[in-house]
Amino acid sequence: MTIIAPSLLSADFSILQSEVQSIENGGADWLHLDIMDGHFVPNITFGPIVIQSLRAHSRLFFDCHLMIEKPDAYIEDFVNAGSDLITIHAETVNHLHRSIQIIKSYGVKAGISLNPATPLSSLEYVLEEIDLVLLMSVNPGFGGQKFIPQVLPKIKMLKQMIMDRGLSTDIQVDGGVNAQTAPQIVSAGANVLVAGSFVFGSDNRAQAISELKNFI
Ligand code: DX5
Ligand code: ZN
Repeated sequence: MTIIAPSLLSADFSILQSEVQSIENGGADWLHLDIMDGHFVPNITFGPIVIQSLRAHSRLFFDCHLMIEKPDAYIEDFVNAGSDLITIHAETVNHLHRSIQIIKSYGVKAGISLNPATPLSSLEYVLEEIDLVLLMSVNPGFGGQKFIPQVLPKIKMLKQMIMDRGLSTDIQVDGGVNAQTAPQIVSAGANVLVAGSFVFGSDNRAQAISELKNFI
């Protein structure tokens, strides 16, 4: 079953608690939290305090996507705020293996994200260490961008790489996911879909979530 992770980035930030409730009641599996620092990506969002506030009001799995430079220094804060999974970008660290160990040392799941132009070879020597690979299907920074189709063969290659090694690593895809792109993404091998504007922009969020889950 495909895991659906609506991205809070497209929610109404003046009423976050009820926005989260709406997708939780609507059948979402995870809550995707996009953290941006204005350095790694040209946008700034929110930090641990917002996650901590929402944690008290939701039972969803908190999927924290760090788009920040020097993430090692902030991992403890995001764990303490209530993250269940912390994903960092391979492009933001000098010692990827070390950063993964830091995340795992706190007992949460560890993910690595790759920008559209970053090759899968960055994962070659760390794939066994992580729970999830997040393949960006837009250049990170903003919601509502168009899906980059070159990521489809990349998903297939990653799926093959995971199967060849006998692993069960999750493959998450983020950016431009909607009812049109989701079938191709899942057919290529992804099992976790992030969707911001498609879910939060819909009048019927439960229906949007179920469209992503049951398109076959
Ligand atoms: C982009 C973020 C995404 C974003 C996706 O940098 O990582 O999670 O919210 O938004 P949509 O689904 O609208 O492309
Ligand atoms: Zn994201």
